[in-house]
Amino acid sequence: MTERLPYQDAALPVRERVEDLVRRMTLAEKVGQMLQLDARLDLADAVLTRTAGSLLHASPDRIREAMAMVESTRLRIPLLMADDCIHGHAFWPGATVFPTQLGMACTWDPELVERAARVAATEISTTGLHWTFSPVLCIARDLRWGRVDETFGEDPHLIGELGAAMIRGYQGGGLNDTTAVLATAKHFAGYSETQGGRDASEADLTPRKLRSWFLPPFERAVQAGCATFMLGYQAIDGVPVTANRWLLDGVLKHEWGFPGTLVTDWDNVGRMVWEQKVCADDVEAAVVAVESGNDLIMTTPAFFEAAQRAVAEGRLAEAKIDAAVRRILRLKFELGLFENPRAADPQRQAAVIGSAPHAELNLQVTRRSLVLLRNDGTLPLQGAARRIAVVGPNADDPHAQLGDWAGASGQVDWMPDGHPRETITTVLDGLRALAPQGWTVAHAPGAQIGSLQPDPAGSHFPDGQPRPPLFEPAPADPAAIAEAVALAEASDAVVAVLGDNVALTGEGKSTATLELQGGQHALLDALVATGRPVIVVLIQSKPSTLPPSAAGAAAIVEAFNPGMQGGRAIAELLLGLIEPAGRLPISFARHAGQLPVYYNQIRGQHGNRYADLTQEPLFAFGEGLSYSTVEYSDLRVERDRVPAGGTVRARVTVANTGARPSIETVQVYVSDLVTSVTWAERELKAFRQVTVEPGQRLEVELELPAAACSLVTADGRRVVEPGRFELLVGRSSKPGDLLRAGFEILPA
Ligand code: NOJ
Repeated sequence: MTERLPYQDAALPVRERVEDLVRRMTLAEKVGQMLQLDARLDLADAVLTRTAGSLLHASPDRIREAMAMVESTRLRIPLLMADDCIHGHAFWPGATVFPTQLGMACTWDPELVERAARVAATEISTTGLHWTFSPVLCIARDLRWGRVDETFGEDPHLIGELGAAMIRGYQGGGLNDTTAVLATAKHFAGYSETQGGRDASEADLTPRKLRSWFLPPFERAVQAGCATFMLGYQAIDGVPVTANRWLLDGVLKHEWGFPGTLVTDWDNVGRMVWEQKVCADDVEAAVVAVESGNDLIMTTPAFFEAAQRAVAEGRLAEAKIDAAVRRILRLKFELGLFENPRAADPQRQAAVIGSAPHAELNLQVTRRSLVLLRNDGTLPLQGAARRIAVVGPNADDPHAQLGDWAGASGQVDWMPDGHPRETITTVLDGLRALAPQGWTVAHAPGAQIGSLQPDPAGSHFPDGQPRPPLFEPAPADPAAIAEAVALAEASDAVVAVLGDNVALTGEGKSTATLELQGGQHALLDALVATGRPVIVVLIQSKPSTLPPSAAGAAAIVEAFNPGMQGGRAIAELLLGLIEPAGRLPISFARHAGQLPVYYNQIRGQHGNRYADLTQEPLFAFGEGLSYSTVEYSDLRVERDRVPAGGTVRARVTVANTGARPSIETVQVYVSDLVTSVTWAERELKAFRQVTVEPGQRLEVELELPAAACSLVTADGRRVVEPGRFELLVGRSSKPGDLLRAGFEILPA
């Protein structure tokens, strides 16, 4: 093709280029544009035969091959290359791997999360990828679910703030910015509201419940300019999200004005046939998917034939396909891919991937992601503790530290050994590197967690779908425990690094229990019984319940998959080189039977506990200690009566009465005292971070719009109901940590 056609003319407006190209495309080429196919399979079939518009899971080599193939297609429409770079480009050897989203959420710092996403985008964009399937805006309420690690926790406000920050970070200066990647708000919506934690099960949600808690973070993503949305696997009240016109058309596109592109999740369209059985065959599923407004159809290759047949049989108007293709092409034109397909750039890679400034930012994020949950004064380890025993299965396990969607976690086939070992600092590495001169750091694992084994029922279900492997806990090993105990007894302090690993994390890995697996209970019991101070460090993907012996631990530090710099940051925290500052974005259960334990539950039940167990969480949303003592006092609301369109302003005094600085996250909750419908007793509405130096008293100003004090009425409208409210301010969501001051919102 030598003559330059209108769609190839960068001087023409995007709209004209799109129209020109759509006019030239055959039906097969248009349906092909709607396909997003798995690049690990037959690449020539995907790019040359089916003319797929997008690929995912392409190795560096396959990205190059695929882009070269496009040159021999009739219209040379560039590919959109996508992957799950959800905590850094963790499928690129040596790229900067941050803590998982749950870890990042512990920072409660949108600015830091935005900077992390900017760094990630800067690295991703050098590799030929244009699009990351991140952030996850699901609300994690059932801790048995295998994907809690991918979320920002349980609170819609915190998720919305951090999600918007991440989107800004990825998308940088906009679609023209060649260091930017497209963000994806996922999984729209309610995917995390599983039954019993079982992945992708029907979500028990009404439109009102969706509007109350599950939709607000996604609305925030639209406001932040998120370019794409991914639809959840699951059905809600009988309707798979892929087919939910109310949600896609009514709410997302019309009510919120989302102008962007939708992508289904993995084989959502096929699943309507073989899994959910709401469509008789692929043709019906194609009709439903297109008519519901889906654009890119992830990994349902049969959609190619099925959609063409649907048009040929008069069951689907070609105009509906054209509308989806226009949205996909517009994105490609706006990214400038026809002029610059943004291929991998080895020079930029050498300059930015895993660079020292990126490692430094990662370290900052990781430091802030660590949450000190208990401390009897043993931490920070100082002078007296000269001999340190570092034990536990996660003390020196680089994979457990990175978590899911990273390196060898199982989703991609080009990194069987994961990341280069030297790019990751484990807790053992960190303590060895940072312990003061003259100290000894000795190590024994003491226990194993367990691994995945093939399901004895067979590798595939009768319908041909693969059967996920099963988790098999490792047995407690008396010899390994004895070795760890001997080490503990010869030490001044024990650092026990416990938790889970990728065999217990992710899709197909939801768990029925929340206990530490394998030989970990036996190990902890034995360590605590030595009488040495035991510091438990939890490197895990989600909150575990802890055995009774944990009550005898001197300190507990939470480190949700803390990424490449995890061991260094943890060592710094244990040695008192940094201040603990993280706060929990999710509540911990004492027992799986306590679920759900999220803090913002609806008022109304008989009593406030189980007959056999308290209802209090083990650790509550917002909890986290510093190395200092900080007092909150003197909460004052500026004006008792606030107009409906006004702002609630308040002040609180935060005084550091200890000897070390404290980074305080001042949390602001609202309680609506009488509501027309049952509603949460308190909800997070704002937060501010301040550093308070030893001896310092700070007056912190707080504000929130009266419009934020809203609820969703019985008929599904979000409104502010005038009347009396309470502002609750403090260091965590626990009632005992909160000061209270009343105010009134006046009728509009
Ligand atoms: C399925 C997961 O649910 C989704 O989060 C992910 O982005 C896609 N697969 C692509 O890997």
